[in-house]
Formats: sequence, structure tokens, C-alpha cells
Amino acid sequence: MQQLKGLILSGGKGTRLRPITHTSAKQLVPVANKPVLFYGIEAMAQAGVTEIGIIIAPETGDEIRQAAGDGSAFGVRIQYIVQDEPLGLAHAVLTAEPFLGESPFVMYLGDNLLQGGIVELVQSFRSDEPDALILLTRVEDPQSYGIAELDGYRPGSAELDGASAGRVVRLVEKPPRPNSDLALVGVYMFTSQIHEAARAIEPSQRGELEITDAIQHLVDAGLRVQPHIVNGWWKDTGRLQDMLDANRLILDNLSERVEGELVDSQVEGRVRIEPGARLERATVRGPAIIGAGASLRDCYIGPYTAIGAGCTVIGAEVEHSILLEGASVCELDGRMESSLLGRGVTIRRGQRQPRAYRFMVGDNSDISIL
Ligand code: G1P
Repeated sequence: MQQLKGLILSGGKGTRLRPITHTSAKQLVPVANKPVLFYGIEAMAQAGVTEIGIIIAPETGDEIRQAAGDGSAFGVRIQYIVQDEPLGLAHAVLTAEPFLGESPFVMYLGDNLLQGGIVELVQSFRSDEPDALILLTRVEDPQSYGIAELDGYRPGSAELDGASAGRVVRLVEKPPRPNSDLALVGVYMFTSQIHEAARAIEPSQRGELEITDAIQHLVDAGLRVQPHIVNGWWKDTGRLQDMLDANRLILDNLSERVEGELVDSQVEGRVRIEPGARLERATVRGPAIIGAGASLRDCYIGPYTAIGAGCTVIGAEVEHSILLEGASVCELDGRMESSLLGRGVTIRRGQRQPRAYRFMVGDNSDISIL
């Protein structure tokens, strides 16, 4: 097989993560203090895929270029490809055709996170040589995804594993009444056959050229579309709850490392404290990560929290939350939970307060609770 290229889709509008994504690309929102997009690039690098095209939108493209650069930090080479309008995943493939040429490729949605990477998948794609390889996983809300119907599979039936998955019969994008609970995960492997398929299909009801329809076209043409059931976890980080879940799952595997300065402070469990962070009379209960230069004073940081670089937490309790760079939380009586604070957000105390807070606040906001 020819050398495999990589295609990462990092365009789109990120409407479900507003207001955070009003000012920043959804693929750059950090999970455990690292942009979601970087996990995809690293997964490719690990699988030996070193020629990567990243699809960007005109609105957020510069930010993504700046963050990922030429790829040398990851040991890969990155080219950026502008998709002028968000006309669908299959449209993105067509936009990337000059970069992809005749090469087989791995396509990775830039806001997806897949446990365990793609090394094994790339190996089975190389050795089995199907025309396409799709990743599937069981979900509870199949109407929100592209869905695959497999030969001999009924929703909720016996155990499934990658090796024994049946033949793909039908693929449907977000069906209102799904016949299957197997969702298409946002990682796909294709041969160059996909270009012709993408050209052959019509836009869907949402006005997009769906990759799901292009793969169905391959099935209809009698080509071999190999399903692979994902065993580990997978997250599409498009919504607040998904971001918090992804943050929790990544933090669960965090290795402990304390490099900041601790004064009268306690650190329990798996905690990473980056250089230049300063803790004074603080308690951090892991898994948690405290970014470089953060300043924590008289506070409690609970499990599954990611505090970004340069953040400040003073006289407050924060748990199961993500604070982006430079955010600050000061003097809250209750505990802040399950929240996502944008860059440079300030939340501070007023007079009367409730016991618990939940926020999703866009960049540079300033909130005083009265
Ligand atoms: C896209 C695909 C869908 C797939 C999903 C995975 O949906 O169209 O088939 O299941 O990604 O994240 P979208 O994020 O565009 O709604």
C-alpha cells in the first residue's frame, strides 16, 4: 500500500460550544490543558502518519495555524487547506484532493478524541486493504450521529468486537428513527475511491455533502467497507458535557508531576502542577492539572479539574471544571462545579450567594455575583 496521508478536519463553526467558540476555534479548546486538536495530530504521528493536511475555515484558520505550526513540534509535516464554506465532511475531502492525490488516508475530525490512538487501525487497514475502514461505537442517542446497520446485528444484542463485526448494509446520517445504535466515530480510513463517491452524492437536508452518504455510495458500488468496533472510549467534544467528560477521561490517565511551588499546601492523588505555578494554603485533590504560572491561594481544587496557564483561584472551591488560560475565580462562598470558563474570564464575589455555581462563560467576561 502507498504511504498513508492524514487529513484533520478543523473547520466548522462550533455552534454547540458557544459562547467559548465565539472567540476561538472549537478544536483549540483544551482538554487537560492541551487543545483537542493536538490529540489527533499526536495519534497520527504515533501511527507513523507524517504528511498531514489540516482543513481550516477562513474565520478560525489563522488561530489553528498559529497553534499547530508546521508540525515539527509533533514530528510531522502540516499543510493547511482552506475550506471556504462549511459544506460538509465529504466537501472537505474534495477540497483536500490536490493534497491527497491518489494516496490512501486517515481522516480525523479535529474535535474528536479516541482512547488508545489509531496504531492498530492503521495496521488493519494496511494488512486487510479494504476500500474504506469505518469506526463504530454503541451510543444511547443514535439520532445525533451517522449510524451503521450491520448484517446480523440488532441494537443492544450480544457483545461486539472489532474482529467479528458483520458486513455494512446501510449508513444513514442522523436518522430520526434509527435502526441501529452503532454510531460512526469521527475517524475514517479511505482509499482514493472516496473522491469519486464524494462527487457523486447530493447535499443532505442540512445542505452538506455528508461523508456518511459518500461511504454508502462505496457500499452501493460493491466496494469493501470494513467496520471496526471501538472498544475504548470515544468523545466528540462538541458540547459542554462532552468536554467535561473528555477532560475527566484524560485526567484519569494523568501521570503525577509536581513542578510548581507549594507553600502550606496539600496535593492528594494524581496531580500535575506545571512549572511556575504557585500554591499557597491550597488543597488540590486529583486527578487535576494546574497550568504554568497559575496562582492558587486559600482554595480547594477538586477532582477532574483543569486549571489553565496563568489562572488565579483565590478563596474559592472549584471541582470538575475547565478554566482556560488567564481565567480567575475569587472569593466564592459555594463550590463552582461542572463549569467551563473562557480565556481571561473573571468571576468574583458579591454579597449574597447561593451554595453552588455552574457556568459556561465565553472569553474575557467579567462576572460579579450580587
Ligand atoms: C459528524 C458526522 C457523523 C459522525 C459524527 C462523529 O457529525 O456527520 O456521521 O457520527 O461527526 O462525531 P457532525 O459533528 O457534523 O454533526
